[in-house]
Amino acid sequence: MEQILPGIYKKKDKLTTKGKSIEVWNPYISKPAAAILNGLKDFPLKKGQKVLYLGAAHGTTVSHFSNIVGDKGLIYGVEISTKIISNLVEKVKKKSNVVPLLEDARFPEKYGWIGNVDLIYEDIAQRDPVEILKRNTKFLKKGTYFMLALKAKSIDSVKDVKVTYENVLKELKKDFEIVETITLEPYERDHLFIVGKV
Ligand SMILES: C[S@@+](CC[C@H](N)C(=O)[O-])C[C@H]1O[C@@H](n2cnc3c(N)ncnc32)[C@H](O)[C@@H]1O
Repeated sequence: MEQILPGIYKKKDKLTTKGKSIEVWNPYISKPAAAILNGLKDFPLKKGQKVLYLGAAHGTTVSHFSNIVGDKGLIYGVEISTKIISNLVEKVKKKSNVVPLLEDARFPEKYGWIGNVDLIYEDIAQRDPVEILKRNTKFLKKGTYFMLALKAKSIDSVKDVKVTYENVLKELKKDFEIVETITLEPYERDHLFIVGKV
């Protein structure tokens, strides 16, 4: 098994991360895995980091992030759905470094007590991903990273996805530095994975 990034391993075509056991990181259900397999160069998630994760869902990706940040790191997983968060709680019950938060990421003042984080990851299939990100970057210090998994069809279901990507990047560039972008085909259609800095 070859280590390709801190805490991330590759054997043949399979990515894995390691917590208490080795977990296969499936790019068809987890966008950062798709981005990495597609050649993303600057993956900013590191051991020991405190991460604000927006759109935690059932915890598939959260679980891998938890493995990567390790015991000294922490993942705050924000999820709006009561039904979904119960699966998240069940999935991460043995992971002491994950804190599920039943909140709406549009209202970060509700979880303002978390204080500064080292990284924000957003994967919320909504019409206003940039606005949600902007509201949450108050938790980031200047020069630190965010990652945004952008689903073009959530913003506009008919527009050419490339136009939507361009519009979103233009909007982000008003406030942030774009470090890298990569599309997620063949694993996910119509998604752009964006790494940026505040
Ligand atoms: C595409 S899924 C995330 C998948 C997840 N990141 C993964 O890789 O396992 C989007 C999630 O965002 C949640 N969501 C949607 N709007 C939200 C909001 N305003 N605040 C917090 N979570 C939200 C949805 O309920 C859903 O679980």
